Amino acid sequence: MDVNEIKVIDKTVKGWLKESRDNVLRKIDTRLTVNTKSGRTDLVTNIDKQNEKFLVSKIREFDPASRILGEEGSGDDVTTTIGRVWIIDPIDGTMNFVKQRNHFAIMLALYVDGEGVLGYILDVTGNHLLSGGPQIGVFDNGQPLTKVADTPLREGLMGLSGPMVLHNDYNMVDIANQSLGMRVYGSAGIDIISVLRGELVGYISYLKPWDFGAGKILCETAGMMVTTIDGKPLGMLSSTTVLLATRRAHRDILTIVGQ
Ligand code: IPD
Ligand code: CA
Ligand code: CA
Ligand code: CA
Repeated sequence: MDVNEIKVIDKTVKGWLKESRDNVLRKIDTRLTVNTKSGRTDLVTNIDKQNEKFLVSKIREFDPASRILGEEGSGDDVTTTIGRVWIIDPIDGTMNFVKQRNHFAIMLALYVDGEGVLGYILDVTGNHLLSGGPQIGVFDNGQPLTKVADTPLREGLMGLSGPMVLHNDYNMVDIANQSLGMRVYGSAGIDIISVLRGELVGYISYLKPWDFGAGKILCETAGMMVTTIDGKPLGMLSSTTVLLATRRAHRDILTIVGQ
């Protein structure tokens, strides 16, 4: 895909996201319909479903030959990475959305033959959009992202998954102790925005493709490392524990995980 084509797609997606944000904000104070999925902390609301349907309809109209992987099931059954695949997380941080009506994101990514082309993470209430990809660079609300310093673990804050710390998975307690402090935000999107802005040196959580699809593209384009917790490449269609960090923090964490 050439850069001009990518710029046209980028402009179009930003329009969808603006509309999507307006739709969500319009309903933010309404009574939500909340259902559980795998358990009491795994929620889905009517807004998650509506927003996914909205984004799916925009993609279908604009790019009918593509396939769509959506968290709430209104896309396709995507089993291969061939061709253009859009990945949607219509509300990331649904628990925050339900309990706080704050600290949640809308995420969208475009992969072509398994390669990341464009990624979008929109902090809805903060009105912060991180966007871009390898051919055009990363933008923070339309401005080129300031280059993030390659900070080691011991000089930065670390975003972690609460349950993984409680179970001390992968020596998570040591990782937290060796950093300047841990933060548990409850939305992969908000954590990844914080890594991209240099507010966290890294983030670790068990994630599904829609949780890391956009973040992988943006962080790698910004020069950061995105791998599994044992340093292996991520499979675009598989769920795994993801380690996303500055190069130095990534090295520091792999050493702790291997101990
Ligand atoms: C979840 C959030 C959470 C992360 C979970 C995700 P959802 O996404 O990003 O922070 O720890 O692994 O599933 O379900 O709210 O879109
Ligand atoms: Ca979910
Ligand atoms: Ca998510
Ligand atoms: Ca979600």
